[in-house]
Amino acid sequence: MSDKLYIFDTTLRDGEQVPGCQLNTIEKIEVAKALEELGVDIIEAGFPISSPGDFESVVEISKAVTWPTICALTRAVQKDIDVAAEALKFAKRGRIHTGIGTSHFHIHYKLNSNPEAIIERAIEAVKYAKRYVEDVEFYAEDAGRTENEYLARVVEAVIKAGATVINIPDTTGYTLPFEFGEKIKYLFDNVKGIHNVVVATHCHNDLGMATANTIAGIMNGARQAEVTINGIGERAGNTSLEEVVMILKSRYQVLGIDTNINTQNIYRTSRLVSNLMNMPVQPNKAIVGRNAFAHSSGIHQDGVLKNRENYEIMDPKDVGINESSILLTARSGRAALKHRLELLGFKLDKDKLDKVYDEFLKLADKKKEIRDDDIALLVGDATKQERRIKLDFLQVVSGKKLIPMATVRLDIAGEKFDATASGNGPVDAAIKAVKQIIHRQVVLDEFLIQAITRGSDDVGKVHMQVDYEGNIFHGFGANTDIITASVEAFLDAINKLPVGNN
Ligand code: KIV
Ligand code: ZN
Repeated sequence: MSDKLYIFDTTLRDGEQVPGCQLNTIEKIEVAKALEELGVDIIEAGFPISSPGDFESVVEISKAVTWPTICALTRAVQKDIDVAAEALKFAKRGRIHTGIGTSHFHIHYKLNSNPEAIIERAIEAVKYAKRYVEDVEFYAEDAGRTENEYLARVVEAVIKAGATVINIPDTTGYTLPFEFGEKIKYLFDNVKGIHNVVVATHCHNDLGMATANTIAGIMNGARQAEVTINGIGERAGNTSLEEVVMILKSRYQVLGIDTNINTQNIYRTSRLVSNLMNMPVQPNKAIVGRNAFAHSSGIHQDGVLKNRENYEIMDPKDVGINESSILLTARSGRAALKHRLELLGFKLDKDKLDKVYDEFLKLADKKKEIRDDDIALLVGDATKQERRIKLDFLQVVSGKKLIPMATVRLDIAGEKFDATASGNGPVDAAIKAVKQIIHRQVVLDEFLIQAITRGSDDVGKVHMQVDYEGNIFHGFGANTDIITASVEAFLDAINKLPVGNN
């Protein structure tokens, strides 16, 4: 048996059936080209009879793509097969994927038929498709819930009729991995001619077992895996391409099977599909989730910094992610902070690092995640000259139908001063209260609050420019509380004024 697994990508057919994920032809071509670069062997480009849009997409993808086989889906219906063949006319390598339901449910309740008639329809469909293309794949829909003995009869009949690939879908995601593996083995042990065709898995994820079932199928002889990028697809989705490919790569010593996939393109392709289909990838999704290579607990961070393999079984670079990310949160230790500071170009001595770490922990209690620009601010604060005038206390009252009031206490060279003022807003009230204490004729020239774009827990950043006796002074403040940030920015500027009487 070959040690190469064919990757059959059905993102543009089974994946695209998801409500809200529909793409136009241009977008489908973009995905198809990305799949070609990724190295997939077969692209299922659509179900041409289902709509003029699907027909056009199969035509255009056939023209745009060079290496992968282009596959078009049909039911076991002559008209479907005619239309699929027409849509594939520009394909350098075209495949018709035809089939019919074989489970008790499908035969009796969906097709209102009987097992013998289904075998006849399957044979006819394959023979009819063979008039157009050499490469005909047959699917036994709901094979997962089809009795093995009957399934073997169907498969043997369609191989005799000329099928080159036999697809065994677990359409409802129902089988257990050992059952699915046994099903594939049963076919290899009981179907004449099965060694002359490629057997495919097509597993759905209703019970979260799609990847496990696919691997069980491969371990029992299947050599084509039908998958989608990010595992998108009907209901709970299909088997995800990235999981199967990285399982085979990471566990090659055990499984001994390879694919043609350029794994370094995985992440890029995942993001392309997610963006075009408006289908976010869950953060903890294996291989391509935002957190798949992110470490947040202090113990894990320390371990990864000592040796990546302590907590990672794959190199993120292998899937196109530049490096493991150490998420800085309230649970991070000094080692992680020091590492990030060094990456940002800050080399701090022990005292400064301690100071930044203390401030980091305070901020991390207020914010879920500390980003690089937050760290730059913390370093700036911690390494600043000790200020003469410091904010000791601030309380503001504001809201609809309330007069904004602020009470401020400043520490000026160790002495405390209080003032209360009202204003046309909370920032105005707080600045007026500060001015009452400092007795300087300063004019606020510019006041810039940096837009908060990442969430309501973000740090607000304020720049101020004040004019004092014709000279300009700049101040800067940052805080999760925007009024505190404003007062800090004002005081930062005031601290730069020539020392006066206060
Ligand atoms: O899940 C399924 O059975 C299918 C077939 C049409 C191949 O998608
Ligand atoms: Zn499917």
